[in-house]
Amino acid sequence: MINYCWKNADSAVVGSEHGLNVQKEFENYREKIAEIVSGLYAKKDTPGNWLKWMNLGYNQELVSEINEYAQSVKGKFDNLLVLGIGGSSLGGICVTESILKPYWNLLDKEARNGMPRIFFLDNIDPDQTNGLLSTLDLKKTLVNVITKSGNTAETMSAFMIVKARLEKELGASYKENIVATTDESKGILRKIATEESFKTFVVPDDVGGRFSIFCAVGLLPFGLVGINISELLRGVREMDAELKNTNIDKNIAAQNALIHYLMDKKGKNISVMMPYSSRLKYVSDWYVQLWAESLGKEVDLEGKVVHAGPTPLKALGATDQHSQVQLYNEGPNDKLISFVRVGKFDTTLEIPRVYEDSELGYLCGRTVNDLMNAEADSTRVAVTDYKRPNITITLPVINEYYLGQLLYMLEVQTAIAGALYNIDTFNQPGVEQAKNYTYALMGRKGYEEVADKLSKKIACV
Ligand code: PA5
Repeated sequence: MINYCWKNADSAVVGSEHGLNVQKEFENYREKIAEIVSGLYAKKDTPGNWLKWMNLGYNQELVSEINEYAQSVKGKFDNLLVLGIGGSSLGGICVTESILKPYWNLLDKEARNGMPRIFFLDNIDPDQTNGLLSTLDLKKTLVNVITKSGNTAETMSAFMIVKARLEKELGASYKENIVATTDESKGILRKIATEESFKTFVVPDDVGGRFSIFCAVGLLPFGLVGINISELLRGVREMDAELKNTNIDKNIAAQNALIHYLMDKKGKNISVMMPYSSRLKYVSDWYVQLWAESLGKEVDLEGKVVHAGPTPLKALGATDQHSQVQLYNEGPNDKLISFVRVGKFDTTLEIPRVYEDSELGYLCGRTVNDLMNAEADSTRVAVTDYKRPNITITLPVINEYYLGQLLYMLEVQTAIAGALYNIDTFNQPGVEQAKNYTYALMGRKGYEEVADKLSKKIACV
């Protein structure tokens, strides 16, 4: 299993001004946590609770369906182009970058084991989109358009551009290059997919975008590039078995949720996610969305205005030691840092014995692996010396199994934190508002009144 250590958040290590008496807090919250955890598991199958993501690790039928489809298209496409944004892309980027490793797209087909390159188009920047489309041979590209609502302007406009080009290049057979992942019945994309007979996969009911990584939203692109989705879900299930435990001493998601919640109350309202691995860089992006959209809420469950929510921040070790760590050590003591460590990297890289007689001699014969781990240790010790609380999660190695554990643990941690904050973890009125304003500004039917109000506001800016 992945390992979790809260020792450096304890007052015994960072002092009582900045640390928590962790064991005492576990006692204080023992009953509350037991109630929250048992409540989540009791409510997870009831429609309307948005907790069906807790069942996704067990969907073997979907695994078979995806593997079958992946087999049926294997070798036909050089590229997989994923269109989606927010919860419909961040999980995909996070897992593919972690498992395929950076530079996958630069490998030749043999090195990719016959699997396609993968591109995510999540932003709608015209220069980026034009740039990508000018390099891709669309005839050899499978397009996976992902949107739960089926309406999101960014995703659907990218899809319309790509679809028009595909049709122009391929004629009627363009449909074979499209697979859509969307709601079973709602949304414009579902309607189009039915009318034009696209292959489709479903985003299940009661699974919100940021909790959708383990349904077809994530699993389909993973399966299409050869990621072992059975192993990913095995990791999810094994973590799920641990997290069912209502005893806080045994439940790392509950421990981490409580520590984050209490640190926020202590004024440490910035939650830094800092993996020491380039492959895990986008775990931070995924976590930032999960934490921000789930916990950043104006009102609590009783409707009281609370403006809750710690601010998540992404960092990468060792790179950000040369960028952000100065602030972490000596700036305001308002952060709880989560280090993510890797026990063993897949490869070893030795630093050659050049310049041995110079001041660089100490590096000779050592490995980059040693250097990375030394950097992680030194930063952890330094921030702790500065009395900055931090926790560490260690993955023995980076593979599907441990990544499944890590990501599922962070999902459950978020749900438990939401319950501690007493907010609705699973809505996103702030996101919906921005979406509606965009529809209005772009002239969507039914949004005329909003457009009218907006034009007055924009005039003032
Ligand atoms: O987590 C969320 O709900 C959002 O970030 C959505 O995933 C995002 O807005 C994209 O929505 P959709 O999948 O409907 O296109």
